[in-house]
Amino acid sequence: MAQAELLPEVTKFVDAPKMVIGGKSVDATSGEMFDVINPATGQVLTQVPRGGALDVDAAVNAAREAHQDRRWAGLRPGKRTEVLYKIGELIKRNISELAQLESLDSGKPVSIASGEMWAAGDVFRYYAGWPTKVFGETNPTDDNMFVYSLREPVGVCGGIIPWNFPLIMAAWKVGPALACGNTVVLKPAEQTPLTAIRLGELCLEAGVPEGVVNVVSGFGHEAGQALAQHGDVDKIAFTGSTEVGRKILHASEGNLKRVTLELGGKSPNIVFSDANMKRAIKGSMNGVFLNSGQVCTAGTRILVERSVHDDFVTSLLDSTAAMKLGDPLKEDTQMGPVVSQEQLERVTGYIEIGRSEGAEVAVGGARATELGDGYFVQPTVFTGVRNDMRIAQEEIFGPVAAVIEVADVDEAIAVANDTIYGLAAAVWTSDVTKAHKVARGIKAGTVWVNTAGNVEPSVSFGGYKQSGFGRELGKHSIDTYTQTKSVWVNLR
Ligand code: NAI
Ligand code: MG
Repeated sequence: MAQAELLPEVTKFVDAPKMVIGGKSVDATSGEMFDVINPATGQVLTQVPRGGALDVDAAVNAAREAHQDRRWAGLRPGKRTEVLYKIGELIKRNISELAQLESLDSGKPVSIASGEMWAAGDVFRYYAGWPTKVFGETNPTDDNMFVYSLREPVGVCGGIIPWNFPLIMAAWKVGPALACGNTVVLKPAEQTPLTAIRLGELCLEAGVPEGVVNVVSGFGHEAGQALAQHGDVDKIAFTGSTEVGRKILHASEGNLKRVTLELGGKSPNIVFSDANMKRAIKGSMNGVFLNSGQVCTAGTRILVERSVHDDFVTSLLDSTAAMKLGDPLKEDTQMGPVVSQEQLERVTGYIEIGRSEGAEVAVGGARATELGDGYFVQPTVFTGVRNDMRIAQEEIFGPVAAVIEVADVDEAIAVANDTIYGLAAAVWTSDVTKAHKVARGIKAGTVWVNTAGNVEPSVSFGGYKQSGFGRELGKHSIDTYTQTKSVWVNLR
């Protein structure tokens, strides 16, 4: 497939990306590299260092040293604000470069990647406001004592992130960690290491001291595992599959490090008969097909009230069939490929499972082979789905929607909650009472009413049930990246 023209900065960066450890650009100790694939072509884009246990060790040591000597935490809070804001500004200034990199690496359309780069910068600008606002308190006691609490950084924080929103996920981990004075070792997904490495460089350019932000590229079972079980790491923030979330929790046992987990989802998107149908269709489509469906909050279970089911489905199928798949580097592309061969097989495998379970492929249902060797999957809608089918219960992480008919509000809530997950939900209705009733009834960390997919740095994000625990963004992350110390002073 023809590729749109690459920016010279992108060509230069892609030529020899390196890890960032202790402020230096380095190769793996072993000298080994691994391939980074462009999902739109299936071709090797570049190679990056295959970081392993030794490299994780070096990065953790650098982060520990930077934590101990307080080269970051000991700065005037206003200075840390300045540096964090500068990271946001540098991301903003380099949006075209970063968006092309992200698009090449992950297959997401460049227009969408640009918005994501902006959003990642926005996270740093938001957390730039926090260093001056994180402080302890004085506690009430009798006259003989003076008690106060210090709010201190947790220490060395590991961030293990997925490939679906690489730079945004990096920002969610690094932004609040730095705002609270911690040091960081970031392990990007092996499918998409590039923008995280570039972020490591931009942090240095913005004035983050050496060793405070380290980026180790490598595989999950090597670099990821080494970081998760490292005895000198104080906290792991993980986003990814529920399966690996469990492994992270096990790996944390050794030194009882703090863990926050953002895991999978199978979010309900509920359309009631009194909804504004145009908005509901557009929102439902975005909810399930954005980023080729590779979104943890994706509204993959579309629950539709019986009286409008057939009309809704007709419009949904028309709009789905009209989506523009193609070269992610082209501005008018709406949907790119999925991220990898492995993901392609997983998604097409689930489409077969859905068929064999007796659900009907109403549109799509196959790999888009006319687009060449890239990992393109047609946007697919299953109708006649029962909530106990595997395609309604298991996270597919591809452009596959399951439409389920429901009778009324009570059934909608019951079906919505009949899942091991609880990350998000969307509700479409013009009845304000119904909207609030459903919002209360649903067990999920986020409920959207007449909208879907919104995320803001000031709004907390996280899961109920097996979608994880701990909250990111907003002031909630400040709690998970700090610990308090009570100091008792005897005045007698
Ligand atoms: P994954 O959970 O294996 O990968 C996420 C991150 O964890 C990557 O950085 C990976 O290198 C790391 N990792 C893997 N094994 C590890 C281990 N033993 N110890 C420490 N770190 C480890 O996700 P994967 O395999 O890429 O995708 C599989 C499925 O997971 C997807 O189909 C999707 O259902 C789900 N997923 C959910 C995401 C979310 O945002 N909730 C993001 C990515 C995947
Ligand atoms: Mg995996």
